[in-house]
Amino acid sequence: MKEIPEFQTERLFLRGITLEDTSSYQKHFVDYEVVRYLADHVPWPYPENGIEEFLKEYILPNQAMSLWMWGIFLKEKPTEVIGAIELCRKGKPENRGFWLGRKFWGKGLMTEAVAPITDYAFTKLGFEKLIFANAVGNIGSRRVKEKSGAKLIGTEPAKFVDPKFTEHELWELTKEDWSKP
Ligand SMILES: CC(C)(COP(=O)(O)OP(=O)(O)OC[C@H]1O[C@@H](n2cnc3c(N)ncnc32)[C@H](O)[C@@H]1OP(=O)(O)O)[C@@H](O)C(=O)NCCC(=O)NCCS
Repeated sequence: MKEIPEFQTERLFLRGITLEDTSSYQKHFVDYEVVRYLADHVPWPYPENGIEEFLKEYILPNQAMSLWMWGIFLKEKPTEVIGAIELCRKGKPENRGFWLGRKFWGKGLMTEAVAPITDYAFTKLGFEKLIFANAVGNIGSRRVKEKSGAKLIGTEPAKFVDPKFTEHELWELTKEDWSKP
């Protein structure tokens, strides 16, 4: 497994996810209120050892090559992962995914977490633009994008874990438009 850089923000540590993070990842991620907003390739009900398998088989072998996944940790509790951000070289079409445990929403934490990662994507990984996506109706995710300077480029049919969501919004953030918080 390759290393990825660590970052610090006012309230957070961001570092490459490891298998030691499996149980706290599971604790905060395996929650329908988090997973329902994700694309429908995420299984629900979530399999019992699904996080370990996902990290072992998909994330860790590709870390720092085709993708970069950071765990998000509060500085006051640096052993417990409370969320994650993933960048992908090849967009699906989106180049980034993120989630945060439910009890941490609405405090500006994801806006804070995406800042050093967006900088890293533009200054070190050579991205000229990033494509983002969210379910139409996922207002928190939409706001994180808007606040960073991303521009809405369209809406298309898409499938999510919660079948109530039937479309996604696509966003583009260029290096020029990136507005640091
Ligand atoms: C999307 C998510 C990462 C946002 O994280 P967060 O730390 O709560 O985001 P922030 O606090 O930085 O910003 C959220 C913004 O949305 C706003 N917001 C959130 N829910 C809202 C709602 N229902 N109505 C209006 N505004 C809302 C917040 O007020 C804030 O905007 P502001 O700073 O202008 O006040 C988090 O909600 C999450 O993990 N959701 C489940 C998984 C998910 O949706 N992942 C993304 C898939 S595209």
